[in-house]
Amino acid sequence: MKRILFVCLGNICRSPLAEGIATAHIAQKQYPFEADSAGTSNWHEGEAPCSDSIEVAKRHDIDISLQRARPVHPDDQHRFDYIIALDRQNLSDLEAKGFQNVHLLGDYGDFNGEDVPDPYYFPNFEGFEKVYAMIERSVEDFLEKAAHERI
Ligand code: 4NP
Repeated sequence: MKRILFVCLGNICRSPLAEGIATAHIAQKQYPFEADSAGTSNWHEGEAPCSDSIEVAKRHDIDISLQRARPVHPDDQHRFDYIIALDRQNLSDLEAKGFQNVHLLGDYGDFNGEDVPDPYYFPNFEGFEKVYAMIERSVEDFLEKAAHERI
């Protein structure tokens, strides 16, 4: 069983979507993987995902409403086989905390290293649909590559 951790800033908008999309794809393909998510901050610890993320996931038949935000923990480096940052700031914040071998989600799905934009700062539903589409494509590309031992 390989464990994958998706990390954004608050763990309430983007990484809960990545966790939910990955969990659904893993179940559909029956891959021996497990997905989780966390934030580089503890600002929203214990909170459910933001309502727009819950809504956009629901439109795609994915329920993320039971997820609860948590900050990354130093042990995550050892507990997870893959750690994936949603943007470059998250990646450098993880490196500053001592995490190594962190992947950037934008390096998958032909996004050329693009950051997944933070929808917290442009809270309109169209923005969340774009973020959803980007996360879906990059997460599925990552999972396909990981499943075929290409990462
Ligand atoms: P996330 O979005 O990193 O995708 O969960 C954010 C959530 C909260 C804040 C920033 C980004 N905040 O500043 O509280």
